[in-house]
Amino acid sequence: MSKKKLNIGMVGYGFMGRTHSNAFRSVSNFFDLPLEPVLKTICARNGERAEAFKNQWGYESATTDWKTLIDSPEIDLIDIASPNDTHAEIAIAAAKAGKMVMCEKPLGRNAAESEEIVAAVEAAGVPNMVWYNYRRVPAVTLAKELIDSGKLGRIFHYRAKFLQDWTISQELPQGGEGLWRLDVKVAGSGVTGDLLAHCIDTAMWLNGPIEEVSAVTETFIKARKHNLTGQMEPVGIDDASLFLAKFQNGSLATFEATRYARGHKALYTLEINGEHASIAWDLHDLHRLQYFDHSDEGRLRGWRSLHITDRDHPYMSHWWVPGLQIGYEHTFIHQAADFIEAAAKGESASPTFREGLRTDDVTDAVLESARSRAWQSVRQR
Ligand SMILES: NC(=O)c1ccc[n+]([C@@H]2O[C@H](COP(=O)([O-])OP(=O)(O)OC[C@H]3O[C@@H](n4cnc5c(N)ncnc54)[C@H](O)[C@@H]3O)[C@@H](O)[C@H]2O)c1
Repeated sequence: MSKKKLNIGMVGYGFMGRTHSNAFRSVSNFFDLPLEPVLKTICARNGERAEAFKNQWGYESATTDWKTLIDSPEIDLIDIASPNDTHAEIAIAAAKAGKMVMCEKPLGRNAAESEEIVAAVEAAGVPNMVWYNYRRVPAVTLAKELIDSGKLGRIFHYRAKFLQDWTISQELPQGGEGLWRLDVKVAGSGVTGDLLAHCIDTAMWLNGPIEEVSAVTETFIKARKHNLTGQMEPVGIDDASLFLAKFQNGSLATFEATRYARGHKALYTLEINGEHASIAWDLHDLHRLQYFDHSDEGRLRGWRSLHITDRDHPYMSHWWVPGLQIGYEHTFIHQAADFIEAAAKGESASPTFREGLRTDDVTDAVLESARSRAWQSVRQR
């Protein structure tokens, strides 16, 4: 018997449009799902390129206006993989039309925008999820299972970094295609919403809510030529953002993100220290989890490097044989699988839009603390 179809309207064919399209195209080959995802329509602003993307990735049609996806009775799910300033309008319209909605991170450019998005999906009762994909790295999912099982005991410290180096040149313009992340009107913020948002989502998933933050941000290059106006314009984003945090469980944390760490392209690392054990993970070695267990026999005690490729590791029974690792794109496939499972029951998958809003509450507090130079409480909801 053929499965019920899940017809997808994808907005954006850039970096994330490709990871999501790849996920929906291959997920049914590896996961036995209740719905069959169908790449129905791709939407992007450039018609010729949207058409080429449609042909290359196997979409049935292409459009340059996302409203045609909303109006189409054939589309079940709107997947938003376009820049941050487009998320709210598209997500709210999709929810009002009764469509399921998936959205790239950060959910909104700030918590106020995200609040409106959450209100729309909750009023409509439509399944939703934010693409914080690092939760679905099998090693990170295993970290969550170990922490939840109590193996670490009381948690004292959390440490996260996300380091890049691609905006160091003074000559790099801001705005427009490929460089919208440097334009604060489009992005909402700099590395706080772009990179730290990932670290915060993972941190709260692993270690619970963050109560208070104290932050410092810096914009190293104060003016850049704007690609759309051709004029030198002030840079409104934070180039680097560092903060201290207190979690509700009493643990302390440091977070750091920058695009000025020469030599680092996308180094996301996290470490968590508990009473009995510690865990560390590194995106450049994403299939490994470092684990230290103080209950090991003293003479043999040390950091273990676990190769997360066995059948009893999260998600790995869907892949190859033990010992063979998977990569970055698989995190999106896992997320698509989990969403489809939930959506078939009319439910959202985690991180829901409401969880995405909680991350934006933290990034708002970080930016406010940097402005006020004072500790800032994080709104709890
Ligand atoms: N989960 C992750 O790890 C991750 C990584 C990168 C980006 N992102 C997020 O994904 C989103 C997109 O980022 P990206 O790197 O893929 O960007 P990108 O610049 O590579 O691609 C953006 C796409 O959006 C399309 N677009 C822009 N405005 C549009 C509009 N009004 N209507 C329809 N299409 C429009 C463009 O044509 C392009 O195809 C952002 O929110 C970003 O923060 C998440």
